[in-house]
Amino acid sequence: MALHRYLLGEDALPKKWYNVLADMPTKPAPYLNPATKKPVGPEDLSAIFPMDLIAQEVSADRWIDIPEEVLEVLGLWRPTPLHRAWRLEQALGTPARIYYKNESVSPPGSHKPNTSVAQAFYNKKAGMKRLSTETGAGQWGSALAFACNYYGLECKVYMVKVSYEQKPYRRSMIHSWGANVIPSPSNETNAGREILARHPDSPGSLGIAISEAVEDAATHGDTNYSLGSVLNHVVLHQTVVGLELKKQMEMAGEKPDILIGCTGGGSNFGGLVAPYVPDKLENPDLRIIAVEPSSCPTLTKGAFAYDFGDTAQMTPLMQMFTLGHDFVPPGIHAGGLRYHGMSPIVSALVNDGTAEAVAGDQLEVFESGVLFARTEGIIPAPETSHAIWAAVQEAKKCNETGQEKVICFNLSGHGHFDMGAYDAYFAGQLQDYPYPEDAIKESMAALPKL
Ligand SMILES: Cc1ncc(COP(=O)(O)O)c(C=O)c1O
Repeated sequence: MALHRYLLGEDALPKKWYNVLADMPTKPAPYLNPATKKPVGPEDLSAIFPMDLIAQEVSADRWIDIPEEVLEVLGLWRPTPLHRAWRLEQALGTPARIYYKNESVSPPGSHKPNTSVAQAFYNKKAGMKRLSTETGAGQWGSALAFACNYYGLECKVYMVKVSYEQKPYRRSMIHSWGANVIPSPSNETNAGREILARHPDSPGSLGIAISEAVEDAATHGDTNYSLGSVLNHVVLHQTVVGLELKKQMEMAGEKPDILIGCTGGGSNFGGLVAPYVPDKLENPDLRIIAVEPSSCPTLTKGAFAYDFGDTAQMTPLMQMFTLGHDFVPPGIHAGGLRYHGMSPIVSALVNDGTAEAVAGDQLEVFESGVLFARTEGIIPAPETSHAIWAAVQEAKKCNETGQEKVICFNLSGHGHFDMGAYDAYFAGQLQDYPYPEDAIKESMAALPKL
């Protein structure tokens, strides 16, 4: 019988993370201190991050040990299955072979706890009592709440207001794991109050919520900040996905021709593809595709420049693809992809051509998500549906050429808390948002001058 799933035993959980910085053809540029414009040192970051994570952020070591205490919690759901998408292939009538890595099986429902568990562990080890963070879709906030619960840390989540209203049960989930969640912009921080004074009806954005969470950490001695994407250490923690995938593709007797992931801040994509960067250097035909929404087209329409990670300009400057730190994207239903910037690692991979980027429109993306639900059975998160959409496009190309390409994508999360978005789609209430050219042009003008 043809296999549906390629399963690894618990003992096959990777014991080391893979640090792609060791092998990248073009390394990301150093972060800069916004005041001095000089490269940041560990002391600049120590107000909000523990030293272990700061060391990982800049490490040149190819392999980094995963602590036993982290493996113990990851073992609750890892290794995750690799599925062959037989029914999707049949529905498309494609000669392509489609596989997906199922990160939706984690307790919070996405890839996010791969890093939240590690971050909560290192913060606890450093003596922290509390973590603050932002969340877009609510996946990251719930993943950090889940992890803080295991290590006995308090957790405060600033949730982008539009998602806070769209996803009440993500809030309930965050509460269930014992954390506190409020809508952002809020009245609890200077950054939030300033935005509300200028835009009382602001739907919020990840950039604003990051400013609030960073301010919270910087003004409380017992609190650190935790970021769910973008930074090098987050991509590092996500490499368990690509490392397991490599073993599972061996079990299937296959090598991928095309790797696909959706990109918000770049972490699930980065984690999937980083272990394949050395393969790409040997085999230029391997295609690595990042997928973003056309309403927030960071990689496809943004500038490769130094910019802030947040709206209130509190973070270090990072060289990355950006739409401008004060860009507020339309309230699309893939809340986790509404970020103005992009992981410096992913940005460098796209900038030097190791990876490519495409953008999908909301309606086509939902159409692909529904096709996936009706063939493979799993209802995907709207973010994830961007990756599915791109996999479907590539499979359809194979219909035309007759090529039997092996396509692997990351099923980054399920959509069980996104059913309001599905209802709106079925009721014909969703729309495409054309590339918001004027808003982006305005934000680009505010890029820091170096
Ligand atoms: C299910 C899911 N996939 C993808 C993303 C995008 O984030 P990243 O690019 O860091 O993987 C998110 C972010 O919230 C998400 O919830």
